[in-house]
Amino acid sequence: MTIPTSFPEDLFQNLKQHQQTQLLHWWDDLNDQQRAELTGQIQQINFEQIQRLYSTEGSSKAEESPAEKAERATRPATVIRLQDRAASDAESESAIQAGNQLLSEGKVGAILVAGGQGSRLGFSHPKGMYPVGPVKQTSLFQMLVEQLTARANKAGKPISYFIMTSDATHAETVEYFQQHQNFGLAEENLYFFKQGTMPAVDATTGDILLEEKHRIAVSPDGHGGMLAALKNSGMFEVMQKKGIDTLYYHQVDNATSIVCDPEFLGYHVQRNAEVSVKVVSKRSPEEKMGIVCDVDQKTQIIEYSDLPPHIAEQTDADGNLLHWAGSTAIHVFNRTFLEQIADNDDLLPFHQANKKVPFVDSSGTQVSPSEPNAIKFERFIFDVLPVANTVLVYEIDRQREFNPLKNAAGADSPETVHAALCRIYSEWLTDCGVSVPEGADVEISPLYALDETELKTKIASDTQLTFPLYLGE
Ligand code: UTP
Repeated sequence: MTIPTSFPEDLFQNLKQHQQTQLLHWWDDLNDQQRAELTGQIQQINFEQIQRLYSTEGSSKAEESPAEKAERATRPATVIRLQDRAASDAESESAIQAGNQLLSEGKVGAILVAGGQGSRLGFSHPKGMYPVGPVKQTSLFQMLVEQLTARANKAGKPISYFIMTSDATHAETVEYFQQHQNFGLAEENLYFFKQGTMPAVDATTGDILLEEKHRIAVSPDGHGGMLAALKNSGMFEVMQKKGIDTLYYHQVDNATSIVCDPEFLGYHVQRNAEVSVKVVSKRSPEEKMGIVCDVDQKTQIIEYSDLPPHIAEQTDADGNLLHWAGSTAIHVFNRTFLEQIADNDDLLPFHQANKKVPFVDSSGTQVSPSEPNAIKFERFIFDVLPVANTVLVYEIDRQREFNPLKNAAGADSPETVHAALCRIYSEWLTDCGVSVPEGADVEISPLYALDETELKTKIASDTQLTFPLYLGE
């Protein structure tokens, strides 16, 4: 192929060197604006990296596979089980105090990752906008922001919220927050930062795919893209200036995660952890959850898709699952630890996933494949775990804290999330002595009560309530 008219020479040589000149196949058909868009996208791509990742000699394929590693997996060393906490009120109380102390000193920030495409849910907006509130259809974003605000009010210090978006979610998310006055969160405590993208390649040829004649098929670079995004957007400096050194990390799809949970924060500092992870007991060996385990004395997470069934099924002498600890993707990170990794780009590997990616074929036809045709490259934030000196693994009550929204129907769907929220709020009311009709819809804003203890200060057994019930500010 010869260099097309008005395409930069050096960029063309780069494409040629990496056998990606097919990206210019439709150049002559494009108008000036489309040419500029395509050129801009090509400038963003690290072709050498893509070639390395795709190539069989590439690092990701040459290294020991996660499945091979899993053969040596043992239970994680530093674990706090639910029953341990229940059995030691004093220890748990001391952790809560330590966490509250951090919060009252303004040392805690919260990171929310909301850059995913939410393809399984099939919602046409960013997932955070999904209306999950059982009575008021409150969105995931609003529920989480209200929790953060309520927690900050209790601490007497603002908590900054760092929300990661992507090209797929940024514009709509920012507009949604603006339309709703940030759900009450002060502008100076709200930060949006955008993660990067990676191109999709044809699984058999390694060719980068065009989604349209003038547009490359790209997708967000995974939640692990957070580190580069925090660094490149200057968020680490913001945190430093504000004196934030401990970061609560959570995902947008779980409305029941306890935002900036003081007890979790407290255990994290008391155990001198650099990273902590909340886990739940897996329901079955087949459950699709990453497991937290130790390999060669390093605590890490192995994705369910990488876990061979015979390892997932292993049991201990009592017949319990050896690898019981399923990750909920709720973490606490030390800021300095994340900064170190962000400065060392090679530490977080890319994972490959075979996906169906629509593309323009060589005849110019738009193809919507029915089978996976492409490879997407993503980084996972949990790959920071083995780099840490100390990882704390902290078991939580799944019913209370882990009810993610992933699918349109069946498990982890709007239906299960609705049921979980009604169950949790009803239990709080029952604790207050109120009798809740079977199957009633209940929603309690975090601004009214963050938990059952706070609810008890407002509701007594003789309080007159009607259902469906919404308790708000
Ligand atoms: P998931 O891996 O469940 O992906 O993300 P998803 O995009 O929500 O849904 P599917 O897989 O397409 O159906 C877990 C969390 O990580 C965030 C998501 O927004 C969600 O909070 N995430 C995921 C990102 O922020 N960026 C990404 O590139 C991927």
